[in-house]
Amino acid sequence: MHVHVKGFDSCAQRWYQGRRSGCFDARGKLLRRLLQVTFLAILLFAGAPQRLRAETGEDAWLRYAPLDQADVAKYQSLPASVTVLGDSAVLSTAQDELIRGVKGMLGNTLRAENGAPSESAFVLGTLAEIHAASPALALSGDLHGDGFLLTTGRVHGFACTIIAGADERGVLYGVFAFLSKIAQNENVAALDELQQPAVPLRWVNEWDNLNGSIEHGFGGRSIFFDNGAVPADLTRVGEYARLLASVGINGCAVNNVNADPGALHDDFLPQLARIADVFRRWGIQLAVSVDVSSPKVVGGLETFDPLNPKVAEFWRAKTDQIYSLIPDFGGFVVKADSEGRPGPSAYGRTPADAANVIARALKPHGGVLFYRAFVYDHHLDWTNVKNDRARAAYDIFHPLDGQFDDNVIVQIKNGPIDFQVREPVSPLFGGLKKTNQAIELQIVQEYTGQERHLCFLVPMWKQVLDFDIHADGAGAPTPVKVLVSGKTFNRPTGGFVGVSNVGLDPTWDGYVLAMANLYGFGRLAWNPNLSASAIADEWTRLTFGNDPLVVRTITAMQLASWHAYESYTGPLGLGTLTNILGPHYGPAPDSAENNGWGQWLRADHDGIGMDRTVATGTGFIGQYSPAVQKLYESLADCPDNLLLFFHHVPYTYVLHSGKTVIQHVYDSHYDGADAAATFVSQWKSLDGHVDDDRYAAVLSRLQYQAGHAIVWRDAINNWFLVKSAIPDARGRVGHNPNRIEAESMQLDGYVPFDITPPEAASGAKAVRCPAPTEKCVAKFRFSGAAGWYELDVEYFDQSNGASKFRVSVNDQTVDRWIADDHLPALKPNADSSTRRRIPGLALRPGDEIQIEGIPDGLERAPLDYVEILPRK
Ligand code: GCU
Repeated sequence: MHVHVKGFDSCAQRWYQGRRSGCFDARGKLLRRLLQVTFLAILLFAGAPQRLRAETGEDAWLRYAPLDQADVAKYQSLPASVTVLGDSAVLSTAQDELIRGVKGMLGNTLRAENGAPSESAFVLGTLAEIHAASPALALSGDLHGDGFLLTTGRVHGFACTIIAGADERGVLYGVFAFLSKIAQNENVAALDELQQPAVPLRWVNEWDNLNGSIEHGFGGRSIFFDNGAVPADLTRVGEYARLLASVGINGCAVNNVNADPGALHDDFLPQLARIADVFRRWGIQLAVSVDVSSPKVVGGLETFDPLNPKVAEFWRAKTDQIYSLIPDFGGFVVKADSEGRPGPSAYGRTPADAANVIARALKPHGGVLFYRAFVYDHHLDWTNVKNDRARAAYDIFHPLDGQFDDNVIVQIKNGPIDFQVREPVSPLFGGLKKTNQAIELQIVQEYTGQERHLCFLVPMWKQVLDFDIHADGAGAPTPVKVLVSGKTFNRPTGGFVGVSNVGLDPTWDGYVLAMANLYGFGRLAWNPNLSASAIADEWTRLTFGNDPLVVRTITAMQLASWHAYESYTGPLGLGTLTNILGPHYGPAPDSAENNGWGQWLRADHDGIGMDRTVATGTGFIGQYSPAVQKLYESLADCPDNLLLFFHHVPYTYVLHSGKTVIQHVYDSHYDGADAAATFVSQWKSLDGHVDDDRYAAVLSRLQYQAGHAIVWRDAINNWFLVKSAIPDARGRVGHNPNRIEAESMQLDGYVPFDITPPEAASGAKAVRCPAPTEKCVAKFRFSGAAGWYELDVEYFDQSNGASKFRVSVNDQTVDRWIADDHLPALKPNADSSTRRRIPGLALRPGDEIQIEGIPDGLERAPLDYVEILPRK
């Protein structure tokens, strides 16, 4: 490779030839040039530095990172200009986006034009506009509902790349699809591709409160609200809308389903209109969650009875007012009679009554109403073994089939409980034939690791979407993905809704790798036939580039992650074992029992699981069609991975796999924790292949996950051991030979205490400082053989303090840190339990290992144990 630095060649030549004049008297200059050359050479030979520029994650999958020179060449014959047929905000967004993407990836700035092309160009427009401009062009006429066509052809005599949409949104989606191909290095020379979304309504719900907090949001505070108002700066809202549009999302309900009636106040509506203004150019319709008691709370009526004419009038006037400010308003989302929300039951009315009164106000404007089927009694009598929360949605909504207006969509969570790590498909999907339906998926990982554990949910969603619920009896298959499109029973509409909950954090949701779930949701809503691996591969290429090692490694990690998470957090379909009365994060299985919430495990010393059979149980299985009933009703047929959802069995029951339930639980928790540890080493193989900032951020999350997976493993296995009194056949559970419990160390200041629940700490005890001001010390002598070790310190990191820890060996400090991760816990328990790994320590017998804790506020530097393992 020839590197030319002006002035250097001639000078170097003179130097080589011994002609010093003009060089030696400029020695400093020569040196500088030599340095310049060396630096340039390093840059050129060290690979493509621009691909490894520091990144925050803010661009997510829309980075438009410069392609390698060799790849850029592939796109040299693309047109130099982009012209738009038609005039609208969405079309000009499409044009800007194409210019932005091409510039970012290929380094060229396309000329922006309007109207018929006067040279070879990208031509953007709706199919109708393109037909009008070039009637001779034979483009597929079968394009509808936000679909697009990418093709090439002659327009006005010029060879053009055509991006045609069924509507304006389709044009924008076509542009994103085209750019995605370039980012993934695909050939675009001979394009001819038509894409049509699978469902008309592809919405996200944000559970943002008007004060700026987010219910189950793990990416910081709201981008939509702050302190009761819509903020002046909506930059992040625009960026979010761009991300959503890039995967085909066309609606967004911006406030919590536990709706603050204040969202409908007269002075708040103009603020919402500002969000709609930002959304509009990205083809996204604003929607709002509403509280059904609004006629009373906001309108000042004495009632919110849906059959009262004054109530109907309230909704009509309020809706008209909204449309006068937001002409393209999408509609409302309703959560009623659920978890303490007001609802039509207060007046003996049905969800159909409540839905229709609001839907009728939306109807003249073309708006829709999503009514959530997440309606259940959370004061169920747990002593009645026939009670079953899983039955609620079907029991309530199935009898109402046919009573909902045509612009109502019943929004059904994928499973009958609540976004657990594994649930069967909600039977309600098969129970509505004369009602529009949408599937509600939770993108945010409320019960699946809260964006601290890697858990790619697309494989789970795929299982739900592909599940044939046999809604049409012996007729054609009725997979959920087709039912929610409305096509099965010729419904006018249907859709996908994803609970997204992004925040102001640069990563949007708190974790770069978790954004694959938002991407995957959009892609599946567009095309549920895409495979999980295709989606993971696409997302990785767009987010991290096309380096084969990176693509292979991250895709494999994503695809393995749900199974790993399920394995260490409670398999066999038991439902969540998180603290359901707390943050739904770490293990606390007893929280599910003996209360009205209905997430019962029904565990005693003989067995575990909910009997939901028709024969002897709650009858839930009877809500499915006969073919599906057959799959679940008998123990012989029921798949292992849903066994405990449907059946109560002894711990010694033998699974299809040949293992007993109890041994499966023990083994899978060890396997799952091992898998989480593997993610760390997989990620480390990418050092230098991913930019440093994202590399470090992801590594620290994965290391945390590996530690917390051990917390999960031990807590759940110990809990099962106590319940069943059946030991682990492999002798691991309850035996940790490399572990030194803090309470058994020599303590100076530290005081032992009991942890609740007991399985949340090793040995059910930990130590803590008695007062916020005193430093405490726990120490012990190493008694193993001399060698290299890693030392793991298990401590508790609460969010109400930032204790300091220092570890020393024979008075030499080997590590120190501050416990200031913002975990969802105010006390030492399995939510706050955290592992610090100190690798590569040379230890000899007799070495004194000391942990010093300096408490802070209510966090008293709590410590659980130390584990010393041979270095791997
Ligand atoms: C879960 C979640 C709540 C949420 C509810 C819902 O129960 O924990 O925060 O409000 O689902 O979907 O309405």
